Formats: sequence, structure tokens, C-alpha cells
Amino acid sequence: VTVTPKKRVLVVDDDDTFRNGLKYALMQSGYDPILTVGGKVAQQLLEKGGIDVVLSDVNMPDGNGIELLKFIRQSGTVPIVMMTGLKSLIENVDVFRAGGILHFLPKPFSRETLVAALEAALAPPEVGPKLPPVEEVAYCKVPINDFISGKEVKYDLYVQLSDAKYVKIAHAGAGLPPEQIENYRERGVSHLYMTKGDFKDYLRFSVKISGVLKDSGTIPRQRKLAFLSQTSQLLMATMGSDQVNAEMMEQSRGIVESAVSVLSDSDAYFGLMDLMNTRRGGDNLYAHSLAVSLYSCLMANKLGWQSPNTLMYVATGSLFHDIGKKELPEDILRKPRMMQSNEERSIFESHSLRGAQILRAVPDTPDEVIWIVQQHHENEAGYGYPFRLRKGKIYPLAKLVAVADEFVDAVTREEKLDQEVVLRVLHQMVKFSKDLLDPGMMAALMSVFKFEIPADIRGAITLAFERKNGA
Ligand SMILES: [Fe+2]
Ligand SMILES: [Fe+2]
Repeated sequence: VTVTPKKRVLVVDDDDTFRNGLKYALMQSGYDPILTVGGKVAQQLLEKGGIDVVLSDVNMPDGNGIELLKFIRQSGTVPIVMMTGLKSLIENVDVFRAGGILHFLPKPFSRETLVAALEAALAPPEVGPKLPPVEEVAYCKVPINDFISGKEVKYDLYVQLSDAKYVKIAHAGAGLPPEQIENYRERGVSHLYMTKGDFKDYLRFSVKISGVLKDSGTIPRQRKLAFLSQTSQLLMATMGSDQVNAEMMEQSRGIVESAVSVLSDSDAYFGLMDLMNTRRGGDNLYAHSLAVSLYSCLMANKLGWQSPNTLMYVATGSLFHDIGKKELPEDILRKPRMMQSNEERSIFESHSLRGAQILRAVPDTPDEVIWIVQQHHENEAGYGYPFRLRKGKIYPLAKLVAVADEFVDAVTREEKLDQEVVLRVLHQMVKFSKDLLDPGMMAALMSVFKFEIPADIRGAITLAFERKNGA
């Protein structure tokens, strides 16, 4: 009988408590951990050999995780798993994007996620250069309730059996009898699928986009696929995943991914997304926008908004909400708002109007999307920009995105997002912005999380909500 030797994991982290927690978890899971506090020692140990995989923090006092990553890339083939928060991921997106032997483990994580990441890193490399899986979204989700009216269905419909397996349950033109729909619902099927091509046709929105699609084809498909794959990685790394019901998170990621996939068929929209993805001044606008889009979709879900059109507007408007910033000088973007001169401030505030203009230049962009972009800094008190709209005049989808934007901005300053941080951020939002943000949307944000929001935080919103809807 041969016993497979335990895999040696080199743990690099300067936090004593965390490192020891990892040691315990790794031993329990059948690994042989070797602990180090910094990148320099780690490099020496790697040179000696015998390490199967490296599990490293990004920020460390001596030669940080990025240095270590570069060292490993140059010198060997040991896979590395980076433990990181979204903040570091964004700051180092260029380094991480080089891909290869690198795997991510977004903080905080469970033991199961840790083991899964190590297993993925230790899996034998595929033949040829190992790129992240590039799979195009082939099927798009539509809530089954959309088909209840009994109207004729123009498309083939599918039910999902497993990740990659779909069975056709209705043929185009034949329709779906209400009893059959009822039957599926009883069996817990909440969504049906159609091919991406049909989905675009199904959405009024994408029928419009198809005008733009005709002149597409100049950007290599491989490049778009790599972009889509990076998109799903960024979505997976978005903070707070484990503070949200897993199924809901999965659904919302699916919506954002479908939106990006549909949009990237147009060279014009792809160009805009790609532009956001170029790093400037340490900020990755694309990562920020994806996070806002994800939280917007989570909130829309909680508000019971299910129409694919509405969700597409939410996902797209939030994705492009800050696109106007791409036209602003870097020093203005980087300056804290408090320190901007009046002139700088008005330049900064022009980003919502510029964004609307940019999108208007793409033929057939839906008005709904443009309104979201244009109004995402309007506020309930009536002194937002650019139009100082009173609350009744602000487009509801823009109010939703405004709340998601503020939340994402606040949590991006944190290294991790656990329950305590979520509550702190919500508390701050309630304290400082409760007269600016729509209370209904704030309530939707609070209900996104799987834990109870204490009365002292929730109460202020409930009051504001009642005041708004009552007298
Ligand atoms: Fe903005
Ligand atoms: Fe933003």
C-alpha cells in the first residue's frame, strides 16, 4: 500500500492569529503546512524546493505578496493562491491579470473554499498554456413567471439540468401549456433558459442593440472571451459574497454576466467596458462598476423586479454609471472631494452628464440606461447633480444604483467584508446619507444580507420610509 505524501503548503501571512488558524485548517484537511511571516523568507524556502503550493497574503511588511508572485513567476512553476480582498485585487489588477499559475481566494473565506482553491491550484496543468476557463454564456435565464400568460412563445425553451446541461422543453412557436408551467414550478424550477441569440431578440433592449451589432467583428473573439472570463473572476471576487444568500448571489452574478456578454457582442459597448478596465491611478473602474452592477441586481431581486428588460437596464446602467470619469483628468479624480476647488468640483461632477453623452453616441442605447447614468448622483434632498432633481422626479432605477454605488464605494475602502463591516457601513450610510438616499432602496439593500439588521440601523430607514409614504 502506498501512501500519497501530504502536499506541502507554504503559508505566507504576517498576521499571527490568522496564520495559526490557517495552519489548523490545513492540517485538518490533510495538508502539510509550513508557516512564514514574510515574502523574503518565503523566497528562500522556495529556492530550497519541496513546496507544492504557496498560499500567500497580498500585503505584508517585507517584500509583499506581489513581489513573491513575481519571484515565483520568474523562477518556477509552483502554483500560488493569493488571499486578497477586493481592494488589493483592484490595486494590483495588472499584475494579477498576467494569469498563469495564479489562483485567487477572496477574503474572508470558509475552509471549504480554501480547500477548493488549493485543489484547483494543485490540479495537473492542462496541455498548452493554462488560461482561465473561457466559456461563452450560451444560455440566458428568464423567470418562469414570464411565460405564465399563456401567450405563444417564439423561442425554444430549455430547463437547466446541470452546469453545462440543458434540455429543450418547448419548441419555438408551440408554446408552453399553463399546466406544464405549473408542473415545473411545483418542482422548484424558477427559471427557464433560451439561447443567447434568442434572448437578445426576446429583450426589446437587445433588438435595439442589434443595429450596432451589424458593424461588429473587428475585435478578435479571443480577446472578448478573455474579457468575459476576467469579468466572471472579478464578479467572484466581489466582496461580501458570503454575507448574501448563495442562490441569490448566483442569480445576480448570472444577470450581470449575461448583460456583459450581450453587450460585448457590440464593438462599441465592448470598447467602453474595455476602456473602464484599464487601470488609472490605482483604480479599476471596471471592477467598481461590476460590483455596483452586482449589488444593484441583488437589490432589484429583493424588490421583486423580475422582468428581463428591467434587469437588463439595471445591470447595464450600473455598469456604465461612471463611464464619464474616463474623460476626466486623473488628478481631479484622485483628489478627495473636500479638497477640490469649486472648478475642480464642477469638472468632477460633470462625469454623469459626460457619461450620458458617451452612451447617447452609441446608437440605440435605451433611454432607461442613459437616465440611470445621468441621474446616479441626484439625491432625495434635491441638491444632487447635475440637475438638482426633487425626489419625485428622479428615475427610480437611478435611485437604486445610487444606493448600490454608495455602498460599494464604502466597502471598497475595507480589506474584507464580514458581517461586522457590513453593519458598520450600513450604519454610516444611515447616519450620514439617510436624507439623501431613497429609504425604499436602502431597505432593499439591507434585506440583501442574510443576517438580521439591528433595529437601531433599520429603524431610521423605516421611519424615513413611513414619512415618505405617509403624510
Ligand atoms: Fe459617479
Ligand atoms: Fe460609482
